[in-house]
This record gives sequence, structure tokens and C-alpha cells, in this order.
Amino acid sequence: MSIRLSEKVVMLKPSGIRMFFEIAATMKDVISLGIGEPDFDTPEPIINAGIEALRRGETHYTSNHGLLVLRQAISDHLKRLYQVEYFAQSEIVVTVGVSEALYLVFAATLDPDDEVIIPTPCFVSYQAEVALAGGVPVEVATYVEDQFVPRIENIEAAITPRTRAIFIGSPSNPTGAVYPREFLMKLAELVKKHDLMVISDEIYDRLVYGTEHVCFASLPGMQERTILMGGFSKAYAMTGWRIGYAAGPKEIIGGMVRVHQYSIMSAPTVSQYAALTALMVGEPYVQEMLREYDRRRKLVVNGLNSIGLSTFEPKGAFYAFPDLRSTGLSDDEFCNRLLKEEHVAIVPGNSFGDSGIGFARVSYATSYEKLEEALLRIGRFVNRI
Ligand SMILES: Cc1ncc(COP(=O)(O)O)c(C=O)c1O
Repeated sequence: MSIRLSEKVVMLKPSGIRMFFEIAATMKDVISLGIGEPDFDTPEPIINAGIEALRRGETHYTSNHGLLVLRQAISDHLKRLYQVEYFAQSEIVVTVGVSEALYLVFAATLDPDDEVIIPTPCFVSYQAEVALAGGVPVEVATYVEDQFVPRIENIEAAITPRTRAIFIGSPSNPTGAVYPREFLMKLAELVKKHDLMVISDEIYDRLVYGTEHVCFASLPGMQERTILMGGFSKAYAMTGWRIGYAAGPKEIIGGMVRVHQYSIMSAPTVSQYAALTALMVGEPYVQEMLREYDRRRKLVVNGLNSIGLSTFEPKGAFYAFPDLRSTGLSDDEFCNRLLKEEHVAIVPGNSFGDSGIGFARVSYATSYEKLEEALLRIGRFVNRI
């Protein structure tokens, strides 16, 4: 039989991050600052809630939308944090991480060749998910001089009659940028003027340092135009539980649930109970992890700057994004040689779009001691080259 993959899949570039970490996995004593995943274990009460749910026999499907109690808890949580109100019955769907929410939103809203504007550097899945849904990702570069906040005029210049949505991811993976209110207000004006939708990945909303996270849907007139995506992976250290959600206008959430019911049916039941407990008792743990991330953030940003790798201060998520251009090496050369010569894994910036060329993503979701050792090794490497 001749084996044939669809054109859409053939066109997908393999993730640069994965390829890099497959190499790192074959080496000894590697300090990995590459993975976008908390090093903390899930807090104990959340784990216990999962175990208790299993023991109670919560081993069946839930409603396609997700457990109503969890949707209600998400709705209350969003209201408490951002003063936005979503009806638990019809305006929220519980998904298999924000990853699934990304898949659903594009599958439910894009027709072939519809365009989605995406500021880059950005999380690796965005363009791929748009393309898999038959749409066209339109990248808009952001720059270190602007602390990686998009220029509104560049977004406007990218709008065409085929533009369906503007995508934002703030706090940002990989740059750590947090979009300020003034920029988001201008974006709100722009989407009104051009009658567009905004898809907002706010998975890192709880991980901000000395600045506010502005929920895009909370801006005047924006809730009806926004699909808000959030999750449990980062703030509650629950990556493996695979729970996220999308909140938005009921027609769009309804469309997403139609795709979800045929592809996933319902998010893992035990994990939904664990997520419910996270919302009920998780806050002190979030704050404790946040304090530790902040301590590491300062160590890494100061450390990289004193090594001579200019690094702007990230205000959110758990990544620093140093500029490697002063070393004379490309980001691929720098990261490959750093891995081979000093056994430190960081991710070349080009993995996140062309505007990431010349930079690298350094995750500080790793212990303070490992970060100190990694900085010593990076310093030694930079001195040598
Ligand atoms: C910006 C961003 N969005 C979404 C995801 C997906 O998260 P999950 O599917 O675990 O909720 C990630 C994971 O790294 C991310 O960094």
C-alpha cells in the first residue's frame, strides 16, 4: 500500500523544541531550561481530590461541556479575578488543556483560507492549529525594543478582508511579555472598527510579577468578541492532568462543543474533580510557587545580563528571552554548542517564529540551584566564544 499523509500534515514543521529535547535526552548531566512545564508537583490536596474521585467511582464520562460544578467554579473564579460574567451552562467548555481549546476554536470558527493574525515570537502550536483547521496564520513580528508588545499599526496593516480573528497570548510564551492595558485598549478599538474576534490565550494569567494581568474580555465591549482560554497546567502545576477551558459567546462555545463531542467527548473526569479542588483551595499554593518563580526570574535575568547576554525583564510566565546576537553566533549555533559543550539545553528563538531569530528561550521553571549551575556554565561558554 502506498502510504500518504494529508497535505496539511505534510506541511506542518516538526516542533523545533521537541527535536532539540530528543537530542538532550540522550546526553548525561544536562540541565534543561527548555521545557515549558512547572518543576513543582501538583499540590497535595489537589492530588488527593483526584484519588478520592477515583475511589468514589467517578470513572465515567461527564457532560460534553464538562462537570457543571467545575464550570460554575470557573465562572466564579473569572468573575472574582476579572469581573467578567459567564453562564456556566452555555458559555464555558472544559477541555483537554488549552491545547484542545486551541484546536476547537479554530475548527469551529475558520473556513478555508480565513486568516488569523498572530503576533510572534509565540507558542509553537498557534500557527499549526490555524493551518490544521484550513486557515492561514498571518504573523506580525514584535520587537525587543518594544518589550515584545505588538505595534498596533503593524496589526492593522496585516488586516485583510479575509481576517477572521486576532490572536493574543499574554503573558507570553516565549518572551515573558505582558501586554499593558493601553495596548489592549487600542486593540479593542481596532477589533471594533474592523468587526473582528479576539482569541486570547491567558494560560499564564496568574504568573505575573509586579504588574497586572488584563483579561481582554473585561475591556468594554470585548466579552462578546473574545474567546478566552485558560487552564490549570501552569498556575497549579497540573500539566499531566490535562485540563483547560474556553469561555466566550454561547454560539461559539456551542460550535466548539460540537467538535469536542465528536473528537474528545469529555475531558478526563478525575482531572475535572482535581481542577475543582484547585479552584477551591489552590490559591496559597499558587502564591507560594509565584514567589519562588519570581526569585528565580531575578536570578536568571540578572545572571544573563551580567554574562553579557542582554535580556529584557519578563513580567510574566516563567521564561527569559536573552538576545544572543552580540555573540556572533546564530541562535541555532549558540544553543547546539551550549548543549554539546556545557550540557545546558535552551531553545533557539527561531522555533517561535522568524522574529525570534537571534534569541533563545530560557525557562526558569527549574530549581534555583540548577539555575545557578546553568548560569555558571552559560557564562563559561560565552567567555570562551
Ligand atoms: C502559551 C501556551 N498556551 C497553551 C499551552 C498548552 O497548555 P495545556 O494544554 O497544558 O493547557 C502552553 C503550554 O506550554 C503554552 O505555553
